[in-house]
Amino acid sequence: MKNKFRISLIPMIALISSSLLLSLTYFQGKNWVVPDASKKMKNPVAATADNLKSGKALYAKNCKSCHGTTGKGDGTKSKDLNTPCGDFADKGFQAQTDGAIFYKIKEGREDMPSFKKSITEDNDIWTLVNYVRTFGVGTKPVEDPKKPADDPKKPADDPKKPADDPKKPNDKPVVGKKDSAMVVIDTTSAPEKTQIEQVLKQYEKALNSSDTVAIAALYTSDGVYIPANGATAIGTAQIKASYKQLFNSSTMNEKYSLEEIRQVGDIAIIRATFKGERTFLGFNQKISEENRELILLKKVNGNWKIYRCMSN
Ligand code: HEC
Repeated sequence: MKNKFRISLIPMIALISSSLLLSLTYFQGKNWVVPDASKKMKNPVAATADNLKSGKALYAKNCKSCHGTTGKGDGTKSKDLNTPCGDFADKGFQAQTDGAIFYKIKEGREDMPSFKKSITEDNDIWTLVNYVRTFGVGTKPVEDPKKPADDPKKPADDPKKPADDPKKPNDKPVVGKKDSAMVVIDTTSAPEKTQIEQVLKQYEKALNSSDTVAIAALYTSDGVYIPANGATAIGTAQIKASYKQLFNSSTMNEKYSLEEIRQVGDIAIIRATFKGERTFLGFNQKISEENRELILLKKVNGNWKIYRCMSN
């Protein structure tokens, strides 16, 4: 009897550990570490119209089956993979340096094949880097920072834009999205509005000066930060690491505008929009962006601190 019991346990343990492994693999898919030296590599190939044409051909031959025609990760083979292919239009993806993307294409990981042997010319890989950049319409470089990003004339003269697919879902820039929600600032429901807004001002200042230490100090020790394109950070150490990662790839020059502020005892509820410019360091380009933030503050020892912050 005892033996029988033991035998039936084995497949159970195998099942549990394999599903654990699966979820672990998925988690790792979000955290692909690229060596610093590779991140800093400069792209020697210019994204001219001719080069992008070659990139498109290379992509169709080697990448489309998994990553899909528009880079959304919905190619015919994608359903048979254990790891999602990701979305090349994603801001987080586009925020990477050319060197990081080059490294990933060359080395591969898990279901993403290494192209070291099949694409032997480094310049062909750089050509592919240029081509996958074209999927990032939302992070399209704003050549003239003074020119509004949603200038209707703009898309027509962008040489990077693949002009041949009118159905392409990425065509609408994500930047400049408007929040049409009603503005509710009811001061009677937030008697400590001034102190509460002070935290928002400090947060804005710390974001614009890439000051990780100042930001971490604004949070409670058990605070939670939920960035738009990254893992949830819980507690001071993770929060610091998460903002550090953000500031490593970009700098910000943004202003908040308040949409709602309410106070329920020692908790304050804030909705705000952060609007301005973000410069992607690796990409060396500025984009206009507008993020909506939902922030909960908690009063700890008489001071308002960020308790939860979610950005999208
Ligand atoms: C067999 C399917 C497959 C093919 C073919 C393929 N990829 Fe991938 N690719 C993946 C998967 C799956 C991932 C996610 C891997 C991970 O996160 O561990 C990935 C990830 C990537 C990444 C990293 C994405 C990120 O979020 O940083 C890049 C860049 C990339 N692929 C480019 C390419 C290019 C360029 C080609 C063609 C030369 C190509 N891939 C061909 C499946 C594929």
